[in-house]
Amino acid sequence: MSDIKQIETLEQWRDEPEEFKHACRKIVISHAINELYGSKVYDEPAIALAPNPYAKWQVCRVVMEEYGHHCRFFDLGRDMGIEEGHMLPDQTKKSPLSIMGYKMTTWEQFCVIKMLGDLAEIVQVEDLIQCSFHPLRNLARMTMPEEYFHAEFGEKFTTDICKREGGMELIQGHINAIFPLLPSFFGRSHSRNNEIYRKWGIKKCSNEEMRANYLERANVVVTKLGLTLPEVDLNAF
Ligand SMILES: [Fe+2]
Ligand SMILES: [Fe+2]
Repeated sequence: MSDIKQIETLEQWRDEPEEFKHACRKIVISHAINELYGSKVYDEPAIALAPNPYAKWQVCRVVMEEYGHHCRFFDLGRDMGIEEGHMLPDQTKKSPLSIMGYKMTTWEQFCVIKMLGDLAEIVQVEDLIQCSFHPLRNLARMTMPEEYFHAEFGEKFTTDICKREGGMELIQGHINAIFPLLPSFFGRSHSRNNEIYRKWGIKKCSNEEMRANYLERANVVVTKLGLTLPEVDLNAF
């Protein structure tokens, strides 16, 4: 491949330059915070919103996996010497991602969050599966199939809702409200942080490439339902 140095173990990582280590810590902190925040504000409350035992069972699996993602990133972070409080949303000043500010009150909204929000997560995690810091790369590889399941879960239940009377209109309304919060998930275009991630081989794609990839894939998903994505101005990011 390229001449990017591969860091296979934490022991090796500890001897690397501070810029690289700082960049790795930033990613681990961000994942640990957002996985926990998302589990608390969306996934766990959705157990009560799910309309029947089958749906509750499926949501419970999602909840278990999302808390599990937090725990994996948290454990790695602790091994990297990150203070525990920095990875817990109620103990840090670092705010969670924009999508986390959305107030979810219904099952249908939850299904759209999983369908479109977890697709954004997939694009992010896919970018880490070639990461030069292998403990993080391995974690991304472990997390991946579960994120696929969450997005499929969202798609499947959203498809069922669309078959109900008035379902398509309802879901289109939720897409219109939720989707515009997601493109900023990938960070600013021409970001200095992202430049550092790519320099060290931690990430592969620029924020703008990931955002464009996401928009394309979200469009495919929504078109399958016979619905549309609201216009988003890519130059705004
Ligand atoms: Fe997750
Ligand atoms: Fe997920």
